[in-house]
Amino acid sequence: MRKEPEAYFITLIHTMGFLKEEMARFYSHWHFKSGAHGFVTYTLDKEHQPEAFRELPTVFALSKGILIMRGSLAECEAKLPELEKKYNAITVHRWDLISEEGDMGDRKNRGHVIDFVRVDQEEFALGVRFQIRGDFAPYNGVSPIPREERAPSNAYQKLGEAFKHFRPLVAHDDVFLDIGCSPGGSTYYLLKKGYRVIGVDPQQVDAKIREDFSEGFLQLKQKYDDLKSKHLKGFPPVNWVVFDVDTNSLEALESLLKLVSKLDECNGIIMTIKMDKGFQMSELDEIDRLALNYDFVEVRKGLLPSHEKEFCLVLTKTE
Ligand SMILES: C[S@@+](CC[C@H](N)C(=O)[O-])C[C@H]1O[C@@H](n2cnc3c(N)ncnc32)[C@H](O)[C@@H]1O
Repeated sequence: MRKEPEAYFITLIHTMGFLKEEMARFYSHWHFKSGAHGFVTYTLDKEHQPEAFRELPTVFALSKGILIMRGSLAECEAKLPELEKKYNAITVHRWDLISEEGDMGDRKNRGHVIDFVRVDQEEFALGVRFQIRGDFAPYNGVSPIPREERAPSNAYQKLGEAFKHFRPLVAHDDVFLDIGCSPGGSTYYLLKKGYRVIGVDPQQVDAKIREDFSEGFLQLKQKYDDLKSKHLKGFPPVNWVVFDVDTNSLEALESLLKLVSKLDECNGIIMTIKMDKGFQMSELDEIDRLALNYDFVEVRKGLLPSHEKEFCLVLTKTE
């Protein structure tokens, strides 16, 4: 009997439930097969090529590919050369999801990669995945962005991950409105990259921001709910908005979109959606509907490796 095609997804341990919920809602023709240590497999309704499979929108997977086999270390090692040849693989990534270590191959180039994954104590899996620059390698909870000692919070790494993965089209002299900017990790990241930042937060930012950057930053000490476009008159026009406030995301998105619709030069929004603030899977559709209503043409959503209680939403006006 012919084996049904299978796919694997790598997610964070605490987002496995969200991934399963997402699959049940948007890919109900796939059937859950197994899930442990953030490695989740599904049987598929038909064959998919890795490149096309990568394009399918999934929010709660850090990466995904076509499962080739599961077996012992020796069985997988024996199969590996044949697979590398068959897919003309540019590299092999070896992952140990138990001890959360990896031996990464080429992560910069575009092409087929073979994931060689230890998924359980004695069990391994081989899969093929299509990689593009910016894709996260399948590891758990470790940020690919190096820590910055002086950054006031780990939102420095979080925004770094969002830039790495979503590669927003930002010009070197762009101005960011950083809403919920305190204590200042995301602002620190943006200033370090040379962008100008208008922070919005009733709380003061950490002193290191002004110590390390003598210019390029100013703060509006107020809530974003009270922010009107007229408060931004006299400031350089805003090109991007970063929003990182612990709040009900959908309500916040709606008021944010209203504000942004009055900022003529604003091209995009990078927002964190908090899953521990009453998030429902149905909101994924609602986000698309709202964004399209406000003339955003591209809506992208995805997990960031170091944050399992939120995902990142990137909206842009130009594709
Ligand atoms: C998760 S922290 C943001 C971390 C920050 N982005 C960083 O890089 O360090 C959330 C921030 O949102 C701020 N905040 C809460 N309600 C707000 C509101 N209505 N308007 C603006 N900021 C708000 C809080 O004061 C807090 O500093």
